[in-house]
Amino acid sequence: MTDLTSNFGKSAQRSNYCGQINRDQVGSEVSLCGWVDRRRDHGGVIFIDLRDREGIVQVVFDPDAGEHFALADKVRGEYVLQVTGVVRARSDETINPEMVTGEVEIYAKSLEILNAAETPPFQLDEFTNVSEDIRLKHRYLDLRRSDMQQKLRMRSQVSTLIRSFLDREGFFDIETPILTRATPEGARDYLVPSRTHEGKFFALPQSPQLFKQLLMVSGFDRYYQIARCFRDEDLRADRQPEFTQIDIETSFLNQDEIMGIAERLITEVFAEVLDVKFDAFAKMPYAEAMRDYGSDKPDLRIPLKLVDVSDLMAVVDFKVFNGPANDPEGRVAALKVPGGSKISRKEIDGYTKFVSIYGARGLAWVKVNDLAAGVEGLQSPILKFMPDETVMVLMERLEANDGDIIFFGADKTNVVNEALGALRCKLGEDLNLYTCEWAPLWVVDFPMFEKDDAGGWTALHHPFTAPSCTPAELQADPGNALSLAYDVVLNGTEMGGGSIRIHQAEMQSVVFSLLGIDSEQAQEKFGFLLDALKYGAPPHGGLAFGLDRLVMLMTGASSIRDVIAFPKTQSAACVMTEAPGVADNKQLRELNIKLRHKEASVAKELHAGEEPLA
Ligand code: AMO
Ligand code: AMP
Repeated sequence: MTDLTSNFGKSAQRSNYCGQINRDQVGSEVSLCGWVDRRRDHGGVIFIDLRDREGIVQVVFDPDAGEHFALADKVRGEYVLQVTGVVRARSDETINPEMVTGEVEIYAKSLEILNAAETPPFQLDEFTNVSEDIRLKHRYLDLRRSDMQQKLRMRSQVSTLIRSFLDREGFFDIETPILTRATPEGARDYLVPSRTHEGKFFALPQSPQLFKQLLMVSGFDRYYQIARCFRDEDLRADRQPEFTQIDIETSFLNQDEIMGIAERLITEVFAEVLDVKFDAFAKMPYAEAMRDYGSDKPDLRIPLKLVDVSDLMAVVDFKVFNGPANDPEGRVAALKVPGGSKISRKEIDGYTKFVSIYGARGLAWVKVNDLAAGVEGLQSPILKFMPDETVMVLMERLEANDGDIIFFGADKTNVVNEALGALRCKLGEDLNLYTCEWAPLWVVDFPMFEKDDAGGWTALHHPFTAPSCTPAELQADPGNALSLAYDVVLNGTEMGGGSIRIHQAEMQSVVFSLLGIDSEQAQEKFGFLLDALKYGAPPHGGLAFGLDRLVMLMTGASSIRDVIAFPKTQSAACVMTEAPGVADNKQLRELNIKLRHKEASVAKELHAGEEPLA
């Protein structure tokens, strides 16, 4: 490539970013570096749109540029150039209002091709419909797109603001280990085999939970870390196997004080970055969230609520309803959608299919056509099973009006909650029922435990969360004990969560034993924590935000992958680096690892059949 200069180690001495050229620089000479976004040959004049992270500017070469003009003719898309030229105002008829720099252009004097480029595997312009797999395979190109640049820029701005806020509030930034022991947050661990300790494994942290508590025992008082966390769990649009937390811990503060700090932090970030002003966050007990919204992360932008009708349905002659209505673990609930009677039968079938994802076995409905006409004015496949009086009491309870549709769920409580909770969000989206742009919310008063499939207790938050009762009360009635835990929800997404921690060994032992962790196991897994609690642990608590989720919401991205430079796919792999990869025999021998199905695992050689992304 004769046109390429040998430019290793040479400063380009760029004077400006392309996207920052404006009328103020008209007449002055500038030196720009960037990528060729587009090149057009207009019969004797060559136009190059030169792009860098700040934007695009038009560069014009005419034959007066001599050899540089000839060089410009050889330039292709995504070549890396250095251009020197004079900024000039465009004539009125050539001003491009679509471009930030559209009032000016660079009249080129010289051109240096810093590097050539092959034709990219996909067009980088914003609206090209490229599959995400291809984008991820060539992520370094995908990230050149201005949309991705904006998102990662906002991410950087958000983390800088967070650091500045927490620094002002007296928090120390302290790093905690990545090679560590299991940190129970409810997911599977990523394990790393130890070479020096045969048969032993490190676990990557699911969060810095235990270390941040230990830092409180050490007296640091206020800790934060923008911390990478690792969880081997089923991935969704808002979950990645490695993700980033804004992790916070404090000593001697109560729940309201910790929530206050977190709320001010989020409020400041939204004000600075998006110019959005939040009022004080709403606060809702977990029980109310489940009752009214069927979810512990209700999207309060949607003005629909579930209404309990179990008592009315307990006596109707319809097994589908009276069964769950009479089951202490069942629920019959209604969801009224004002103006929803225009939803077609076909759409109702679609919603019935939608709720079946959550285990619902049907989706009964009533359309309110003419309430004044009584039961005659209603349309529904289920009213025939109910006495007219019950139907009218139902309408009254739901404050039904002409034009409404009412959906019903009848099943185990968790099925009804999940199905109608999700339907509520789907209807909000489909019918655009949103009443505001942002709805931040604290959910509080979580139960300490929930029943697992085997009938034992599991911690709803994590096992280090303090209950709001004494150890004796906890032991007497674990099912009804509430915890000092709190979650921050924004627009139906759990953005963060935390709790006051157990700082006394006795309470910690009671919780472990309720969770089925006997004292020997507790000592083996968490002995260091139990020991630390004996040496003057201060009362402490904290929380963690998901940075990726926060930025996803702030940028309006539909997937968490769009705010992570190099994310993993649905099957927790990287299609670009092809990680995870195979280890060679020498490495395995050093680690004392023998693969059980060597051939199978090599043959699988990953990524061959990546599933589609969620
Ligand atoms: P929790 O498990 O609730 O709490 O996590 C805190 C926040 O981290 C984010 N998050 C995730 N983001 C992307 N991908 C994931 N797989 C993922 N998992 C969690 C969420 C969540 O709200 N140690 C406690 C915090 C504490 O008690 O201080 C913890 O990790 O936004
Ligand atoms: P069926 O008697 O099965 O035809 O059901 C009558 C109506 O009740 C249909 O609209 C079903 O979708 C609905 N339905 C059935 N099972 C349930 C359920 N568990 N919860 C809510 N609606 C249901």
